[in-house]
Amino acid sequence: MKLIKKGAEADIYLASWNGQTSILKIRKKKEYRIDSLDQRIRTLRTIREARLISESKSFGITTPIVYFVDERKCMIYLQLIHGKLVKDLPPKKIITISTEIGKLIGTLHKNGIMHGDLTTSNFILSKNRLVILDFGLAQKTDKIDDYAIDLRLFKEVLNSAHVQIMEDAWSSFVNGYRIMLGTHVTEKVVSQVSIIESRGRYANVI
Ligand SMILES: Nc1ncnc2c1ncn2[C@@H]1O[C@H](COP(=O)(O)OP(=O)(O)O)[C@@H](O)[C@H]1O
Ligand SMILES: [Mg+2]
Repeated sequence: MKLIKKGAEADIYLASWNGQTSILKIRKKKEYRIDSLDQRIRTLRTIREARLISESKSFGITTPIVYFVDERKCMIYLQLIHGKLVKDLPPKKIITISTEIGKLIGTLHKNGIMHGDLTTSNFILSKNRLVILDFGLAQKTDKIDDYAIDLRLFKEVLNSAHVQIMEDAWSSFVNGYRIMLGTHVTEKVVSQVSIIESRGRYANVI
């Protein structure tokens, strides 16, 4: 088993599942939490991630196949997706792919799921298909405010990691989102993003 990424919440390994190479995501124990609570949180997130990955598949979102879930050990075996993280694509490509990201997120929201961690490290471009990863913080919700939190995070990521293409990538994302959710809902969510942003600015002042 080879460690390929150490995250804040989980470690990602290249592992073998039934003889084929796969990804193993293990949620680590947090020493600062009370043991029983820690076990509960990790188990819950593991189950939730596996469930929401599968549910998203049911309405056409491309996500890794879940091979196996070990609730007690907080492990998920996932299909290994070959390709490049969107974060590492050339800037021009990120602008065009942002429309696809917008469509994907629009589809998730349309079906009552927020992703919760919309960074460009959570998308892999694989053979011209865009695959979405990491449902560890995803949840079922019908609140405009939650959808706006998704969009706001994506905008922030563009602002910090892809600042030279921020404006173009953002409008490309919103166009994709609009295709799935229509003008009315899109305007509501985007204006909620502005409200959250202005709250943030206010908080910085005081
Ligand atoms: N199914 C997968 N196929 C290929 N790479 C993956 C897969 N799942 C995770 N990764 C890689 O591991 C990284 C972290 O995985 P992720 O599920 O996002 O965990 P974290 O919660 O730590 O962000 C991803 O950015 C990606 O590079
Ligand atoms: Mg991630």
